[in-house]
Parts: sequence; C-alpha cells; structure tokens
Amino acid sequence: MRAIAEAPAKAILTGEHFVVHGAWALASAIPRRVRVEVTKSDRLSVESDRFSGPEAPGLRPIAHVIAEMAKKFSFDTRLHVSVSSEIPEGAGLGSSASTMVAATAAVARLNRLSLHPSDIIRFSMVGEREIHGNPSGIDSSVCTLGGVMLFRPGSPPRRLSLGGKRCLIVAFSGKKRSTKRQIRRVADVKEMFPSMFEGLTEAASEVSLMASRRLLEGDLKGLGRLLSFNHAVLSTVGVSNQALDSLVDLALSLGAYGAKLTGAGGGGSIVAVAGGGKEKSIVSGLRARGFEAFRAEIPVNGVKSWVER
Ligand code: PMV
Repeated sequence: MRAIAEAPAKAILTGEHFVVHGAWALASAIPRRVRVEVTKSDRLSVESDRFSGPEAPGLRPIAHVIAEMAKKFSFDTRLHVSVSSEIPEGAGLGSSASTMVAATAAVARLNRLSLHPSDIIRFSMVGEREIHGNPSGIDSSVCTLGGVMLFRPGSPPRRLSLGGKRCLIVAFSGKKRSTKRQIRRVADVKEMFPSMFEGLTEAASEVSLMASRRLLEGDLKGLGRLLSFNHAVLSTVGVSNQALDSLVDLALSLGAYGAKLTGAGGGGSIVAVAGGGKEKSIVSGLRARGFEAFRAEIPVNGVKSWVER
C-alpha cells in the first residue's frame, strides 16, 4: 500500500516579510503541485526529482517532520518517501512548504491518522523552520488550506470566498535565493530603523486588507495599484533588486495593471494582475523574453491525500 498527497504552490499577493513582524498578508494557493508518495520500507529514505544523496537539502527537514509526528503518534518511521514537484525551487512559490505539507499529509494517511489541518500546518512547520529560520507560517497555511486568505501570525486565517475565478500572472526571474537570508536582511533594517519599520509594517498590513477587498470585488485595476505600491515598500527594505525591478517593469509595459515581487525577493518570482483578457499576451511576452511565466487561475484546493493498493 502507498499513501499519496498533493499540495499546491502559493503566491503572496501582498504583505510578505512584514507578515513576519505582525502585518496582515494576502496569499493564494496556485495551480502547481508537489506530490509525495510514502510506502513502508526497511529504513527511512527520501528521494526526489529535485535532489539526491544523503546530504541533499530537502532530506533532513522531511526526516525531522516524520520524527516529530512519530514522537506524538508512535508509528514505525522506516518509510520510503518519494517527492516530485512542478514548483520551481527557490522561486518564492512555496516549494518547500508544499513539500513539507504533502509529506505530512501522506505520512498521516499511511498511518491512518486523521490530522486536523492545523496539525498538518504545525508538523510541516518543523521542516519549514529548519529551512527558513523564522517563517511566519503563511506558506504552510496556504499550501494546506488552499484558496485565498488573509494571514497574520497568531490570528486564525481569514478565508476569502471569491465567488468565481480570478487570474494571476506569475513569472520566475530564474534566480534562486535563500528565504532565510532575506528574512535576516529585513530584520536588520528593523533593528536599524525601528520606528520607520513600524510605519512600513502598518502600511503593508493596510495594503493587504485593501487588496483583499479589491480582489473580492473583482477590481483588478485597484488590486494592481496596490501590488505596485507594495513592491515599492518592499524595495525600501532591500528585498528587491534590478532583476526583479526589470521583470516588474516588463510586466507593466506588456499591459499589466500592477506587479510586484512575490515571496522573499532577492530573486525568485513576481506576481502581476491584468484585465480585459490580456493575461495570455502578457504571459507570451514574458516567455518570449526567456522567463518562465504562467497564468494562475485561482482559487485552487489545498492538500489532498489518498491511498493506493
Ligand atoms: O520563501 P518564500 O519566498 O515563499 O517567502 C516566504 C514569505 C516571507 O514573508 C518572506 C517569510 C514568511 O515566512 O512569511
């Protein structure tokens, strides 16, 4: 018997980084998935289409998630875990969170544990902390629950009921980066300019609340303005760079209403919104200049798991 789980990628629309310091952020699950298969074995082993070898980066966090689950539920940890992913790594699209969430759900399914989503989030965070240092939990929450949500640490996520499809544009700069280093960089800015940082955190939080209203109303032009504003705020704390600024400018020049870096920045991806059916031509324009770009229809479901015999 094997247990299988699939979890979606995510894109943060507004509020990343400041969410670590208490701001509201707006995030959405997007239609790229990680699939994890788990079977019983004679020892614990992890293989992936992304990494290999006993010291591979994703291996230890998955093993620690399993160890933490086994501590609570005492099951046999001699398992074989196989990971395959459609999510580019180090791209700010939740590749690690999606992997940890799917691994948690698959291991739970194999051991007939019916975990509450909050437990899946909690266990997946064991691996996320190891990879990112001090994550807010937004990635694990979105990859587990799916949909679109306002998230702030310590508050229950506020799910948005869109009542129809919306389309985002996602483009990867091609540059991988470390979320941990980016979070540290922002913490340094906070330490240097505490009162200014407080103002920026409040602004980012307000942007997220406003952006959620624009998204609900289907006002993509208004949402786009907020995305661009948020990109400027993120630039002031040093998480953008020339590659991301140029990619944002390119999306705007192709007709997007607004665009910004998404996730930790310093590389990774941008998210943009457009109207009037322009999404396809914007994606083609981005691809024509060599970027991996795609339309992301939202909302999409969160993690799901099942067994196959
Ligand atoms: O690792 P990424 O690029 O998906 O970014 C995570 C979002 C941050 O706000 C930068 C960190 C966090 O945990 O909230």
